[in-house]
Amino acid sequence: MDPKRVMPETVAAQALGWIDESTRAVAPPIHTATTFVRDADNQYRSGRVYARDHNPTYDQAEAVLCALEKGEHAALFASGMAAATAAFLALKPGNHVIAPKVMYWSLRNWLANFATQWGLQVEFIDMSNLDELKRSVRFGKTKLVWIETPANPLWTITDIAAAAEITHAGGALLAVDSTTASPVLTRPLTLGADLVMHSATKYLNGHSDLIAGALVARESSDYWTRIKSVRAQLGGTMGSFEAWLLLRGMRTLFLRVEAACRSAQRIAEFFDDHSLVDAVLYPGLKDFPGHNLAAAQMMGGFGGMLSIRVKGGEAAAIRTAAGVEIWKRATSLGGVESLIEHRASVEGAGSPVPPDLLRLSVGIENVDDLIDDLDHALIQGQA
Ligand SMILES: Cc1ncc(COP(=O)(O)O)c(C=O)c1O
Repeated sequence: MDPKRVMPETVAAQALGWIDESTRAVAPPIHTATTFVRDADNQYRSGRVYARDHNPTYDQAEAVLCALEKGEHAALFASGMAAATAAFLALKPGNHVIAPKVMYWSLRNWLANFATQWGLQVEFIDMSNLDELKRSVRFGKTKLVWIETPANPLWTITDIAAAAEITHAGGALLAVDSTTASPVLTRPLTLGADLVMHSATKYLNGHSDLIAGALVARESSDYWTRIKSVRAQLGGTMGSFEAWLLLRGMRTLFLRVEAACRSAQRIAEFFDDHSLVDAVLYPGLKDFPGHNLAAAQMMGGFGGMLSIRVKGGEAAAIRTAAGVEIWKRATSLGGVESLIEHRASVEGAGSPVPPDLLRLSVGIENVDDLIDDLDHALIQGQA
């Protein structure tokens, strides 16, 4: 299948239409081999030596990711964190990098601690304010700007095209954590970004049964070669079964994300006027600060993630989370089942998250069931 001649839904549903040539099977085999036979004249004409670098079960999933993100290269990793940290470890100690103040907390902690001790100069800024980005990029010193949009868990939107222009003018590369948007809603490489990162644990796989990560690069570069060696040498590689599972999950990506977007919009609108809710944070609401930008940048929906700020503060928020039956009280996002969590408890000290905030990951259940369940829980939460 030529991905240029079909729509992305078709690419995902048929995993690029590949069949297994030896059996004509429509689902690919799982290659468990760790090593590959060398030719008698000491060559490796197959191009495969050892599975830490060359696992054949990755090929189809990586090709689908390239087609969906419109990139030239993709690499699967053992987790989203393995993918994200590889993007930083492929830089050099002494390099300056810029990241958002509001972003996935575990990566923010890693940047503030490990990466800084390793020698990166990490600067956290307000990424919704591009003047601040302009002021922070240091020509010749800044090598990577990292953005996340919509950003956890306040769903701040960053203008990818404008950030790419500023970053490139400063001689640096732009990487986007596009986990919450997924390639269904945003394709950062087509907007000028150089690298896209996914926690494939979330929407790409979609069933809360796999930890996985991926990077997709716009084009070949020394930086991409270094990322691939970080993966091979640090060994943060995905198992064969996991790569197969990810490919299976991606076949239903569009249906799942579209359903989650529709329901999230309904839920956001319902609770926006609710007497027990102080604020709903969702890019699909017209009065959300990044709404117009999100409407221009995101395609066909505003995502399945939103947050609500509960009247009565932290205690009421925690009691509300305790009162749900259909929503599952759990961290993570992007699965078929809806999740609710008191985010500040997860992030701990130093978190920018307000204590009355509940983060919601909307799944594919009946939306009225989700609304009723949360409505009852909010009433119980005030007790
Ligand atoms: C936006 C975002 N980026 C990165 C990660 C890290 O991914 P993983 O848990 O697969 O390592 C997560 C996980 O929650 C996330 O939500």
